[in-house]
Amino acid sequence: MTKFRDQKIGIPSNYADEILNALANRKSFRRFLSTPLEDTLIDSLIADCIGAPTACNHQMHHFVVVSDQDLKRRLQKISGSNDHFISASHLIVICFQKGWNHNKFAVVQSTAALAYHLCLSAHLRGVGSVWNAGIGNSDDVRDLLEIPATFEVIGVICLGWPDESLENTKAPRRGVDVVRSYGVFQRPSDHVYPLKSSKKYPYWRIKNNDNPYAVHDPQSWTLGQIREWRAHAVYAKSPTPGIFVSRRLGSEMFHEVSSIGEISPGERILEIMPFAGSYTVLLHQRLGIAAELHVTDLSTLNLDFTAERLRNERGTDAIALAKAMDSLRLPYEDASFDAVFMPQIIESLPDPWDLVQEAFRVLRPGGRLGLSIRNVNSWFGIYFLRQTGKGQVTNFGPYRPIPVSQWRKRLAKVGKIEEEFGVSPIPSRIGQRAGVFMLRYSRIWVARLRKLN
Ligand SMILES: Cc1cc2nc3c(=O)[nH]c(=O)nc-3n(C[C@H](O)[C@H](O)[C@H](O)COP(=O)(O)O)c2cc1C
Repeated sequence: MTKFRDQKIGIPSNYADEILNALANRKSFRRFLSTPLEDTLIDSLIADCIGAPTACNHQMHHFVVVSDQDLKRRLQKISGSNDHFISASHLIVICFQKGWNHNKFAVVQSTAALAYHLCLSAHLRGVGSVWNAGIGNSDDVRDLLEIPATFEVIGVICLGWPDESLENTKAPRRGVDVVRSYGVFQRPSDHVYPLKSSKKYPYWRIKNNDNPYAVHDPQSWTLGQIREWRAHAVYAKSPTPGIFVSRRLGSEMFHEVSSIGEISPGERILEIMPFAGSYTVLLHQRLGIAAELHVTDLSTLNLDFTAERLRNERGTDAIALAKAMDSLRLPYEDASFDAVFMPQIIESLPDPWDLVQEAFRVLRPGGRLGLSIRNVNSWFGIYFLRQTGKGQVTNFGPYRPIPVSQWRKRLAKVGKIEEEFGVSPIPSRIGQRAGVFMLRYSRIWVARLRKLN
């Protein structure tokens, strides 16, 4: 219940609660109907948002409104991702004039205040929005839209009538108890993530693709930190078809899924840690309705996302039975599955061997464990050291490619390696199966192990 000390600056509390509840329901939309918005409506949204505060009232913001289809396509191309730029009715390119209030990013703070106000205003007027910092090279955007060098381009808000035909639950939030502390700083340790030790962490030294403080080794993360990271970062996108499938590496997934072998009717299959359900969709395709698909992850939030995505991508009858793990303990009885699938998980955990043992525990005697491992002894291992491992930790969570030969030996002691192959032996053959010679030197190693009786 909202309380007001001075009615002059508030509104009757029943209206206030209604409005605040409506605002709390704002969420990002990444699919829009083809009916365009009127330019007059766009002007109303901008008129609403300029009421937000700005440092020294300088109002350095500027919005370039783009509705031309060709320009939208070109902006999407520059972004390198964010396909929703094309289906949105209007793109609002957010800029500000440089030269004033750079301290503490006050000019950025001011512009962001307007941007969010615009999203809220859009929401109250029934317009869908999504704010994007993923715009690609700002200079290319500036050139395309003839924005002078004195203006910085920091983002794009996509606007359109929302396509609500697919499920799109609002992204979950860390609780109030987590994000605020009274008096001095306090925050639960699962919600503070590792960075390399340093006296200071100069803001300007940290870039998405060049972060000297990033900690990629999962051994330096706790399981709780990994759980909370993955649980929230998965909502960086909506659970729409094809989401989180890499354009470059997506072709590997088919091989990885094949590692669980032939599926017989009535079998029970378990996928461990689906994150966003990209493999779950492929598994579901292979299974048909004849087998039972279970998924388990560190957090229920990943399972909710996966279930929603599965319904969006595979239809309302796509059932994946979901249960959250308790640390690395799988919430299932001994010998209760015919096959277990854990792609690219071993290199993403602090204590992966515990999970391997758990996987064997829940497999019935003679059951199959299908898995894949990103291999440090490959071109990708070098690429990781030089590139990926120098940037920020990905939304999927921390990982480090590991030596396949070593893990192969270890795994062979607990299960019989029934099939194994390398995938993506060289960068120009991504998604292709490697010859025997490259088995231990490809980007990923895929294997099927059989549980011994
Ligand atoms: C500064 C900023 C940058 C963002 N950039 C992107 C982006 O590039 N692409 C995208 O799909 N969503 C982007 N988002 C949307 C967030 O992913 C989204 O707001 C967040 O997951 C919370 O979900 P909600 O907006 O539905 O509450 C951005 C949001 C903000 C505030």
